[in-house]
Amino acid sequence: MAAFDQAQARGQTVIDIAGLSTRFGDVTVHDNLSMDVRAGEVVSLVGGSGSGKTTLLRQILGLERPSAGSVRVFGVDIHRADAATLQTLRNRWGMLFQHGALFSAMSAFDNVAQPMRELRALPEDLVRDAALLKLQMVGIAPSQAARMPADLSGGMVKRVALARALALEPELLFLDEPTAGLDPALSEAFVDLIAMLRREMRLTVVMVTHDLDTLLALSSRIAVLADRRLVAFGSAEEVVRVDHPFIHDYFLGQRGLRALQGMRDMKEHHYGK
Ligand SMILES: Nc1ncnc2c1ncn2[C@@H]1O[C@H](COP(=O)(O)OP(=O)(O)OP(=O)(O)O)[C@@H](O)[C@H]1O
Ligand SMILES: [Mg+2]
Repeated sequence: MAAFDQAQARGQTVIDIAGLSTRFGDVTVHDNLSMDVRAGEVVSLVGGSGSGKTTLLRQILGLERPSAGSVRVFGVDIHRADAATLQTLRNRWGMLFQHGALFSAMSAFDNVAQPMRELRALPEDLVRDAALLKLQMVGIAPSQAARMPADLSGGMVKRVALARALALEPELLFLDEPTAGLDPALSEAFVDLIAMLRREMRLTVVMVTHDLDTLLALSSRIAVLADRRLVAFGSAEEVVRVDHPFIHDYFLGQRGLRALQGMRDMKEHHYGK
């Protein structure tokens, strides 16, 4: 059994954020924030615009410096790791960014092949097969692989970006607003795709989303970012019981109540009462 299988079997901690503070000048984005992610979980981050969700992902990826506190990924303190260790870690995770998902001057195929080519360890015919396979996993046919990003629909761009994030067979996947800008049907298809990939590739996922249906369909736990910290962190049922204005507005509006009821109906349908 590979090391990660054992980690997953035990639900080991993959990400451990302890007492994290992030300041930009005199603006404090996170203040003494703590959070953990266990192997095999989908942890979703929600919070108002500007509440620091993307910045938290950037802290986990080692792209920002904490003003205080620490972030450990796979047991390694990201901000104290040397360059070689950090590179090894980077090869174990994939990231789907909120904006600018693809290199516009490269075809869909080259976008997906790029992380593998950067490793310089794989022969080109292997890169080719692996990239086409990843594209196929997200529903892009080999005949579409040569298309440039400008010639792809919004939903296809997202899927190619997901294929690229999966290029190095990561154990850990970060998604920043994966369904933003997709219509409801495409959004639902994307959610199904992520659920399938998670099962097949045994991924641990950290996702930022504004979309309630996406949130409720995929999350093992939900982290609510407000007032520069996590005001709630738990299952959907646990989170909605927390008395906070953001949670009230977000989950308990008409749309939220409908989505929650939908989730309860689905659970009843699957597991009985
Ligand atoms: N490099 C930076 N320098 C200065 N301020 C920054 C920097 N990066 C982020 N911020 C500020 O930190 C705050 C949080 O930004 P962030 O992008 O993390 O929010 P978000 O929760 O992802 O919002 P959205 O839902 O709109 O994507 C914002 O006030 C933003 O202006
Ligand atoms: Mg953001």
